Amino acid sequence: MKTILVCGGCGFIGSNFVRYLYNKYPDYKLINLDLLTYSGNRDNLADIERRELGVAESSSRYSFIHGDIGDKNLLEQIFINEKLDIVVNFAAESHVDRSLYASYDFIHTNIMGTHALTEECRRYKIPRFVQISTDEVYGDVPEGYSAEEAALNPSNPYAASKAGADVIIKSYMRSHKLPALIVRGSNNFGPYQYPEKLIPLAISNFLDGEKIPIHGSGAHVRHWIYVFDFCNGIDLAIHRGKDYNIYNIGGVPRTNLQVLESVRSALNLPHPLDHYKSHTNDRPGADLRYAPDTAKSSRELGWSLEHDFDSALKSTVQWYLENKNWWGKIKRDKLFIEHYRRQEKADYY
Ligand SMILES: NC(=O)c1ccc[n+]([C@@H]2O[C@H](COP(=O)([O-])OP(=O)(O)OC[C@H]3O[C@@H](n4cnc5c(N)ncnc54)[C@H](O)[C@@H]3O)[C@@H](O)[C@H]2O)c1
Repeated sequence: MKTILVCGGCGFIGSNFVRYLYNKYPDYKLINLDLLTYSGNRDNLADIERRELGVAESSSRYSFIHGDIGDKNLLEQIFINEKLDIVVNFAAESHVDRSLYASYDFIHTNIMGTHALTEECRRYKIPRFVQISTDEVYGDVPEGYSAEEAALNPSNPYAASKAGADVIIKSYMRSHKLPALIVRGSNNFGPYQYPEKLIPLAISNFLDGEKIPIHGSGAHVRHWIYVFDFCNGIDLAIHRGKDYNIYNIGGVPRTNLQVLESVRSALNLPHPLDHYKSHTNDRPGADLRYAPDTAKSSRELGWSLEHDFDSALKSTVQWYLENKNWWGKIKRDKLFIEHYRRQEKADYY
């Protein structure tokens, strides 16, 4: 029996991770702390909430707390009331485009929020704190691979705020011997991803008959990972990882255009890709390539990719085909439309 506080459990990766733990460890108690920002959605866990929650927000296996990871008083209350074994932090502002025109939220949550969580984990002697970070902290990698000890060289406010969180946690590991570790993931895809990100945006625009806006030439390379392979990596890091360590968990390299072509083909669309896309200006300071080196996670955690990219993408496309109500509701929302108009015009100022 373990009690795990999952912060940001109503977002894309967090909700998949809550479900992953819920199915795999029936004796764990999961507490989900989420501020429900634009990307936080309780519908993402509707199946578990239906099973576990009635009028109350809590059962012996799952509970939901609405709140901010930067709220020290709330954290104290949770840490006093619950005997936590593990804290995993997914809570973040996570979209690079938004960080270019609304960076305050990124500094608030990704740096100040993560700092509050780190400090309270130290004060309340939490046995294990796991921070979910990103390969974007390494910045542009024109060639070769970024191992965990590579220098941090973030290029945009999102990546800088995640790097800031990483260095704060590293300082606590060293000064306070905080039993923490950091998992750095590459670009995830799968069910429940907010449709501002490339793959769900492409699938839903293809289905809505709208052009897909592509930053710059579309030649940017990212290492794409199915969210369940990432959840497996985090699970292994939680249970087998060593304190004070960083683990990269990454997928396979594809350019954005290759990804779109795979989505087009999974949907069996009749025209070539050119028919469905439009190019916008690139993001200012855009990174052309990320390439995390995952050798350490394979060697020390026994982690490896279990899903092949094309089949995982087909399953993802199928999920979006079967869940049009989920993404349709988000895409009709005023907040989504406002952001989308900017993203479409590459208006970052
Ligand atoms: N999506 C990716 O490809 C990817 C890749 C590598 C790492 N990551 C990291 O994984 C984590 C999750 O990413 P995601 O794509 O699921 O993001 P997301 O935007 O879908 O979800 C973020 C969640 O955090 C919650 N949240 C935001 N601010 C909060 C606050 N102050 N207090 C409590 N909750 C708050 C939101 O309501 C939402 O539920 C992030 O830390 C991100 O940096 C994401």
